[in-house]
Amino acid sequence: MKQTVVYKVNSEKPETDSILEAAAIIKSGGLVAFPTETVYGLGADALNANAVLALFAAKKRPLDNPPIIHVENLSNVYKLADEISPKAELLMKQFWPGPLTLVFKKYPTVPDVTTAGLETVAIRMPKNNVALALIKASRCPIAAPSANLSGKPSPTSAKHVFDDLNGRIDAILDGGPTQIGVESTVLDVSVDPPMLLRPGGAPLEALKEAVGEVKLHPFITSEAQLEVGKARSPGMLHKHYAPKAQVILVEGIVPAVMGKVKEITSACWLEDKRVGVLATDETSWAYEADVVKSMGSRRNLDAIAANLFRLLREFDEENVDVIIAESIPTEGLGLAIMNRLRKASGYTIIKVTQS
Ligand code: TXA
Ligand code: MG
Repeated sequence: MKQTVVYKVNSEKPETDSILEAAAIIKSGGLVAFPTETVYGLGADALNANAVLALFAAKKRPLDNPPIIHVENLSNVYKLADEISPKAELLMKQFWPGPLTLVFKKYPTVPDVTTAGLETVAIRMPKNNVALALIKASRCPIAAPSANLSGKPSPTSAKHVFDDLNGRIDAILDGGPTQIGVESTVLDVSVDPPMLLRPGGAPLEALKEAVGEVKLHPFITSEAQLEVGKARSPGMLHKHYAPKAQVILVEGIVPAVMGKVKEITSACWLEDKRVGVLATDETSWAYEADVVKSMGSRRNLDAIAANLFRLLREFDEENVDVIIAESIPTEGLGLAIMNRLRKASGYTIIKVTQS
């Protein structure tokens, strides 16, 4: 077991001492978790193959699922990626720092383990002063997947990181809860038109406004598990978050969804199951279940995104057998939220059309 050191840092102006200590750990091949605007990342020197291997081991992550490389200035991108298109340049200018990851053709300088042997590399510039200061002080690009154990929901606080990885990593920079709460959008700009591989913090609508046509990978719109051969992003294949409880997602217009949630609750109670309902502020009053949690108001998808992963972790702690989740509209951040809920449900989706 390692001793995992936790440094509390000011999220706006992180203390130089803590940043320098964390950077020294990264430089010597160690692992440091840090906040970004989306979720916490687990960082290692992206150009040090052994450090990146240790990263996979600490997370128990399959070696075929590459991490995102985090940079703090644009010139780094040109050392890691090749054939950067004008559309990609526009996106970097407009969305960075921010929750958009771009997939480029890679340069041979990037070790194969860092890209899981792919010809492409995923890069982003996070909008978080702690993350930016750490990358700058480390003087290297930082490979960072989400700082959770593989299969758990992404961490939106230092406590979530500690719960999963205490004793497995060297340090955690605790800069408070993350703002966005779902991971970055992953967009492949090595193809034209660009292809959305994972919906996330940067809404699809905004990307289209910037570059015109954006193709959606079939995995994103899919309501079923697709065949392995069709994956373009390795992460698509891995069942992201499988809570201990079975998740049932109910999709449709609100009154019909509410009726169905109640019906399933009653059926589960007849089977002596402990039932959790994942609702919204507008609906949560109406449910009787063992545990009812609200994601936030339907009129505030930002709040729902910020709460989602924390609530899924809380349900696990409350030992429910079933989580019945309401769907929300797939506009803006809603596309990312519904993508995570569909994955968590293992595509157990019930569609209702009338009340
Ligand atoms: O917001 C985020 O993106 C967070 C923070 C820490 O930056 N990071 C994150 O990393 O969510 P991770 O490793 O959990 O997810 C990275 C995703 C995976 O789905 C992976 O398959 C995909 O990016 N990816 C990485 N490299 C790729 C590549 N070369 N081509 C296609 N997809 C890639
Ligand atoms: Mg992840």
